[in-house]
Amino acid sequence: MSEMIVKPYNEQGSKKEQVEKMFDNISHKYDFLNHFLSLGMDILWRRKAVSYIRKIQPKIIIDIATGTGDFAIESAKLKPDKIIGIDISDGMLQIGKQKIQNKKLENLISMQKGDSENLPFPENYADAITVGFGVRNFENLNKGLSEIYRILKPGGIVAILEPAIPKQFPMKQLFNLYFKKILPTIGKWFSKDHSAYEYLPKSVEAFPNGNDFLNICKKNHFINTKWIPLTFGICSLYLLRK
Ligand SMILES: C[S@@+](CC[C@H](N)C(=O)[O-])C[C@H]1O[C@@H](n2cnc3c(N)ncnc32)[C@H](O)[C@@H]1O
Repeated sequence: MSEMIVKPYNEQGSKKEQVEKMFDNISHKYDFLNHFLSLGMDILWRRKAVSYIRKIQPKIIIDIATGTGDFAIESAKLKPDKIIGIDISDGMLQIGKQKIQNKKLENLISMQKGDSENLPFPENYADAITVGFGVRNFENLNKGLSEIYRILKPGGIVAILEPAIPKQFPMKQLFNLYFKKILPTIGKWFSKDHSAYEYLPKSVEAFPNGNDFLNICKKNHFINTKWIPLTFGICSLYLLRK
């Protein structure tokens, strides 16, 4: 596992503040770029993740690093009693709240500002927790995971999605070309943020993937950990239990 801490803008200052600023900056283009740059596959990956949560029929779902709320909205299909989305970026939350209102889901999904490393919930609170493309952005991964563990009910499930770099030829070479050259250029052009879409491939490269990530989860007491590579390994779905 790499110890390198990749930050969006510069090496000085806190990663958390820079991540918050970056997502505030790109919030208006985030959904468009997310679906465009992943060729719509992000939607299928969240759907797949939610299908694993369905098995436990959760009543309370927390979507951490909810951003514009797509994971929370996908989880609404499970008809739980309550879904709460948490994020540090006001800009992302604003877009998310508008989407939830447009879909008339405001009685089911609430969105609030909060830090994944200091979650505003009691112990053993949630039946299921989702984190879509968020854990890589945490300033302190272990703190974030230990908070997720603390608020999860025993028997509860966590579904985490993260982009990954495939290992096999030719997907690895094709993906590297796309992810490191084409994607940052398109991202820069549309978002007008010159660092955000360079941070994306760098942060994915520096993040532990597969069994390395599962080992960190096990050290944080999660059990029955599972890694499911999706779409030739360009996305990883992790399932964890308490
Ligand atoms: C790539 S976006 C993912 C949004 C959404 N989950 C999705 O599936 O599209 C990552 C989100 O993580 C949020 N984030 C990063 N660090 C966080 C933290 N410490 N606490 C809460 N949210 C955080 C960012 O503000 C951003 O909205």
